[in-house]
Amino acid sequence: MKHRISHILKQKPSDERLVVEGWIRTKRMSKTVCFLEINDGSSLASLQAVIDLTSFASAKTLEDVTTGSAVSAEGILVQSPGGNQAVELSCDAITVHGSSPVDSYPLQKKRHTLEYLREIAHLRARTNTIGAVARIRSEVSYAVHSYFHDKGFYYVHTPIISTSDAEGAGQMFQVTTLDMLNLPKSSDGQIDYQQDFFGKKASLTVSGQLEGETYAMALKNIYTFGPTFRAENSNTKRHLSEFWMIEPEMAFCDLEGDMDIAEEFLKYVFNQVLTNCPSDMQFFSRFIEKGIADVLQQVVETPFTHMTYTDAIKELSANNGKFDFPVSWGVDLQTEHERYLTEQVCKGPVIVTDYPKEIKAFYMKMNDDEKTVRAMDVLVPRLGEIIGGSERESRLDVLEKRMVDLSLNPEDYWWYLDLRRFGSVKHAGFGLGFDRAIQYITGMQNIRDVIPYPRAAKQAEF
Ligand code: 4AD
Ligand code: MG
Repeated sequence: MKHRISHILKQKPSDERLVVEGWIRTKRMSKTVCFLEINDGSSLASLQAVIDLTSFASAKTLEDVTTGSAVSAEGILVQSPGGNQAVELSCDAITVHGSSPVDSYPLQKKRHTLEYLREIAHLRARTNTIGAVARIRSEVSYAVHSYFHDKGFYYVHTPIISTSDAEGAGQMFQVTTLDMLNLPKSSDGQIDYQQDFFGKKASLTVSGQLEGETYAMALKNIYTFGPTFRAENSNTKRHLSEFWMIEPEMAFCDLEGDMDIAEEFLKYVFNQVLTNCPSDMQFFSRFIEKGIADVLQQVVETPFTHMTYTDAIKELSANNGKFDFPVSWGVDLQTEHERYLTEQVCKGPVIVTDYPKEIKAFYMKMNDDEKTVRAMDVLVPRLGEIIGGSERESRLDVLEKRMVDLSLNPEDYWWYLDLRRFGSVKHAGFGLGFDRAIQYITGMQNIRDVIPYPRAAKQAEF
């Protein structure tokens, strides 16, 4: 029988013959015995295979069984006399599928820095840390879909290539088939995009929200979950140029309903990870961020704090001398401010609402004060913002005026404005940065270590 190692490690000793497939983590030899640690990525723990060299037929093959080599090991499961594991494979046959020369294999037995592992990103999933991150990422993706599926939300595939700037921030990567060395020009000297592939200027999307809204206006509750792209040149531990985002959108829903879903959703996801990935979470709690599993458990059990932007500024002003960026009403919150609010003031996640309109996107609903908008950001300790959302402006005239004030051309957004012309209704949604969520759950310091192949300025090797 072939089974994954995570399954085998939970079995009792038995006479049934097993085949174990995986990669060698370590090999130790004495005159009479050979110990192999075999890992197949299904769990942090490896399976120990023990070979009795006095009776082993093909001692020659063992020369090729080196760290990193791919093997199939056969034998039966026996009780392990060593204290580290309950069972081990008493192995009497081994096949080497691909050897791995000891001298040149980039993953030595010693502990490597995460910076070094980024340089060998094609091999780093074979390490404990990155393997555990990969399993958590997969579990969280599944939890995202099961949460929304169970609540009757429909999964909508919004386009990757887009001709509108959903955030209005001008941070888009252009998509073109024009010849860069010979760009067609129109009579006014500008690039003639009519000759480009899509007949107009196109880019990679920064968000699926605008198209998501159109489906919410038909299916009521939807979500998107896909890659998004931002050409912001911020070289930080929490920014990527290509990241994954989950964006639910709910019709007949206001900001309060939006915040309720955001909180329930985050707690559901954290709880699923704690329940289904206990050993990986124990690993992160011990080696990456002390006690992170307990912190998540506490977050699941405690209501989030709510605070308006105006109150947040009051709290922050008390600490003004100590920030690199001083605060006053109207400034955008920097990571240091978000961390102060979550770590010092609220001691946990906080939802900040009603930000000044100047620092938020055009589509957010205007408050009666005409100074603030119905925005909400969910901030968490260590990271700051992981969710950004809002109630949307559903009044056509207000939205058009807002676009003009921001120098956006309403004609470019004609289809988005149509939603306000035909059957408009209050609606709201948010975006969870998937990679930031993984960072928060695992305690990993740098977002580049929670996505297989990070994309950032001057970084797209693999
Ligand atoms: O706050 P943002 O820009 O909101 C939107 O894009 C809205 N359209 C969402 C919506 O209402 N449907 O981004 C949402 C989240 C942020 O809170 C952050 O977690 C993540 O996306 N994010 C990034 N993650 C990694 N790298 C980046 N460069 C990110 N920019 C935003
Ligand atoms: Mg935001």
